Amino acid sequence: MKILLIGSGGRENALAWKIIQSKHLTQLFVTPGNAGTGNIAINIEFVPYSFESIGKFVIVNKVDMVVVGPEEPLVNGLVDFFASSERLRSVPIIGPSRAGAMLEGSKAFAKDFMTKYNIPTARFHRVSANNREEASEFLKTLHPPYVIKADGLAAGKGVVIVNTLQEAENEIEAMLQGKFGQAGKEVVIEEYLQGIELSVFIATDGKSYVILPEAKDYKRVGEGDTGPNTGGMGAVSPVPFATPAFMDKVENKIIKPTIAGLKNEGIEYKGFIFFGLMKVGEEPYVIEYNARLGDPETEVIIPRIKGDILELFHAIATQTLDKYQIEIDPRTAATVMLVSKGYPGSYEKGFEINNLVNVKDSIVFHAGTTFRNGRIVTAGGRVLSITSLGNTLQEALATSYKNAEIVDFHGKYYRKDIGFDL
Ligand code: AMP
Ligand code: GLY
Repeated sequence: MKILLIGSGGRENALAWKIIQSKHLTQLFVTPGNAGTGNIAINIEFVPYSFESIGKFVIVNKVDMVVVGPEEPLVNGLVDFFASSERLRSVPIIGPSRAGAMLEGSKAFAKDFMTKYNIPTARFHRVSANNREEASEFLKTLHPPYVIKADGLAAGKGVVIVNTLQEAENEIEAMLQGKFGQAGKEVVIEEYLQGIELSVFIATDGKSYVILPEAKDYKRVGEGDTGPNTGGMGAVSPVPFATPAFMDKVENKIIKPTIAGLKNEGIEYKGFIFFGLMKVGEEPYVIEYNARLGDPETEVIIPRIKGDILELFHAIATQTLDKYQIEIDPRTAATVMLVSKGYPGSYEKGFEINNLVNVKDSIVFHAGTTFRNGRIVTAGGRVLSITSLGNTLQEALATSYKNAEIVDFHGKYYRKDIGFDL
């Protein structure tokens, strides 16, 4: 099979690493990719980047399947674009239709969906320019802190948590006035849930599903979960507090009603669902849905999935997931993200990355890297994800941290306490 993988992060390097191990693969293309995918597959740059250019490439190169990493092409309707074209309709895409991706693309849609299908989530109210006066009424029914969310995609910055009613009202007004552009023309106000977060993933063909390894990511830039939010500074899998009893609740109260809801709405969904959960006491609540895998969660879940990933993708594409048996490595995976100094604020790029060849016992997934004059240099905030497997979490972390020391580039920074709370 010829595969085209879309994306350029650590998630896509982990997917590429797994795809090239498949006995069904003949050729893997990645667009735009990074230096890590460039080392193991063929990176393709589309200029300009458009659905038309992707479609043309798929036809000309006889690509058999497209795998989508990030949410943006899904929310923008890549799957629908393929479905509307005579020549592309038969090429399977791993990723949901635009309607399915709305679970991530619109927080208001996701909240209404959860309400309709009785899926546990924080109490909320939708506010737009037409009913902005309802905001203060609803805020008064909550206790601080207050959670204010822009409805649409806002590059991970659309969630603001504030401590006073005044700040909450100011934030809502700023969003409605265009702080996040179109993404904030509707706002969701939410009750704050106190608990511990985890990420649960399924692969689904729209009819049945398989549960993938769960993970916990570390979103804040600073040790002890302090400082600004990032895309993620590290992750571990499995999550010790995701006990079988807790995961049963997740499956029965969240996963099953979500699949049933998608079916009932007539929404086609062949891809992944990422449930961002809060464990409150012993109960799971959905904080958010994502229509894709997580990053850096993928860097710890993919190495734990045994078997041929293209067989999983084939089962998704042909809606035969009910017959697919997933096998999971019982060991623990941990990943530590090496980032550029200054991230998630401004940072410099273009520094050479040294000592990659000296890494032992870990897998290095590239995120923001590129080639320059035959060398690998930094090209983003999150640069490399160093994943290790171990019989214990401590063992996995020790290996990743040993290699995090060895790999070097100017301005390298990483959190020293991934997994600290487990
Ligand atoms: P989201 O983009 O919806 O995942 O929100 C980003 C982060 O904000 C989450 O990972 C949580 O840490 C936090 N958050 C979002 N909603 C809530 C909530 N209702 N209660 C507590 N924390 C929340
Ligand atoms: N690590 C969180 C995300 O991928 O959204």
